[in-house]
Amino acid sequence: MKFNDNFVFGTATSSYQIEGARLEEGRSLSIWDTFCDVPGKVYKQHNGSIACDHYHRFEEDIQNIKQLGVETYRFSVSWPRIFPQKGVLNPEGIAFYKKLTKRLIEEGIKPAITLYHWDLPVWAHEEGGWVNRESVEWFLDLARVCYEELDTDVDSWITHNEPWCAGFLGYHQGFHAPGHTNMDEAVRAVHHMLLSHGKAVEMLKNEFQSKTPIGITLNLTPIYAKTDSVNDQLAANNADGYSNRWFLDPVFKGQYPVDMMNLFSKYVHSYDFIEQGDMEIIATPCDFFGINYYSRGLVEFSAANDFLHRGAYSDYDKTGMGWDIAPNEFKDLIRRLRAEYTDLPIFITENGAAFDDVVENGRVHDQERVDYIEKHLQAVSDLNDEGMNVQGYYLWSLMDNFEWSFGYDKRFGIIYVDFDTQERIWKDSAYRYAEIVKNRGNQKSNTGTDVLSV
Ligand code: FCB
Repeated sequence: MKFNDNFVFGTATSSYQIEGARLEEGRSLSIWDTFCDVPGKVYKQHNGSIACDHYHRFEEDIQNIKQLGVETYRFSVSWPRIFPQKGVLNPEGIAFYKKLTKRLIEEGIKPAITLYHWDLPVWAHEEGGWVNRESVEWFLDLARVCYEELDTDVDSWITHNEPWCAGFLGYHQGFHAPGHTNMDEAVRAVHHMLLSHGKAVEMLKNEFQSKTPIGITLNLTPIYAKTDSVNDQLAANNADGYSNRWFLDPVFKGQYPVDMMNLFSKYVHSYDFIEQGDMEIIATPCDFFGINYYSRGLVEFSAANDFLHRGAYSDYDKTGMGWDIAPNEFKDLIRRLRAEYTDLPIFITENGAAFDDVVENGRVHDQERVDYIEKHLQAVSDLNDEGMNVQGYYLWSLMDNFEWSFGYDKRFGIIYVDFDTQERIWKDSAYRYAEIVKNRGNQKSNTGTDVLSV
């Protein structure tokens, strides 16, 4: 693999997954704090109240980022730290991110900030959350403060992280906060997230006249049919509509896919929430496109499923999440985006894997994660050889953290976190990533030997 000098390497985290400091310095509760308290929702009822204690240990974490040698670090702001109550700005909340951003820059690391990575304040949820169209205005209040206070130091803005998860896992499937199972709510919630995205892009460019690049991050899953049968093809079309097209089409084509609108209409009472002009705003041009890629989907027809598909048996090697390891399908995905959707520079804003890590004599030999990362970086390098213009890669994640409904059971970090002591231990994958970054993919060595001096 090989990466040119302009390609950027980074690592990524999000506020609720690492910060802790649940009620400190004016923070109020988010929907993830309350969701974690509901029995049966999160593995062993874990929560992010302490998490990686990053709020107090960010200096140490910055040193780790620096030692990895990456150019950029992607993190998100906690909305309930900045607006603990409706319309009430908390200076200490924004001050934390100013401090963090400033320190990153002093250490030569470019901050990439995500405005929304799922921790909606409870006050907003109590007024209907994303289902309420007013959420767009609440989000813009957050965006405005962040632009005012942080824009001069920020390298790039990401409006939303994975509206599929926040919208469909949160309001349709119920596996994420707020845990609702209502498709009508889900499509409204997604619409308001996408609308707030478009308006936040407009605000940065028009009101702030800012040149800072801004984009959105979608999680995309290339979908394949188990067989060539018409039924399985239909299943794949619907799964693709539900996972990918429902987000790609509005953002790049200014319309929701009609086949999916029809399919969803069994549960969606009316599409009257789409107001005149909304779709143009959602499709406001951005500067780059962020993609989180983890796995492919293999599906087959199922009459029992609302949208006629279900996951099919796959014999691929899997990560600790049970997800197929599928770097070739990652390439298919990017090629499709180029053919059907966009010429914008692409950034892989998340990619990584969970495995069952063990600490042995102070080391974590996570060879499977090393292999996963190498395969996906090789894919990025191949894609760029084809002219696909992938300009950066953020590894998920800098360190083990609160993995949503899986709590601390799933470890995605390249740095191990001992959640009893908060000790951080570099895994072999961290050494290997540092080596790749340093050599820009030019040279291959055996992890854990010559790289240990990094
Ligand atoms: C993505 C999320 C991120 C993390 C990874 C494993 O869906 O954006 O917060 O949980 O998955």
